[in-house]
Amino acid sequence: MLLGIDKLPKVANELFNALHEDEAQIIEELYQACQRENLQEIDRLMELLIYDVEDHFSTEEELMREAEFFAYPMHKAEHDSMRRDIKNLYDNWKIGKNVKEIEKKMVPWLLLHISRWDSITAIHIGD
Ligand SMILES: [Fe+2]
Ligand SMILES: [Fe+2]
Repeated sequence: MLLGIDKLPKVANELFNALHEDEAQIIEELYQACQRENLQEIDRLMELLIYDVEDHFSTEEELMREAEFFAYPMHKAEHDSMRRDIKNLYDNWKIGKNVKEIEKKMVPWLLLHISRWDSITAIHIGD
């Protein structure tokens, strides 16, 4: 297993944690599909991931607005930049079918966002 779900950093809000685990599971499957170079499966999982990322980000944004979290604009801007990133990644994938690009990007992408933004946000929002 490339990304142990158990290694995912936990934050102070259980809903955030559940969203992250769902996403880590899809990314894990995506990694495995990359390793097998199963192009059709990668397509399916990228579509699923984009859908899941939207659900993840919009749920967090709703909670932040409800809690009137002071850093909402920054966290939201980071989500927006990640939304663009993943769309670009998928567009590039469709052209180049470069498995390595997907493998390199996704795990650090999620882990960095959790530690940089979600952990502090979850502390403010609480559980
Ligand atoms: Fe998150
Ligand atoms: Fe976030």
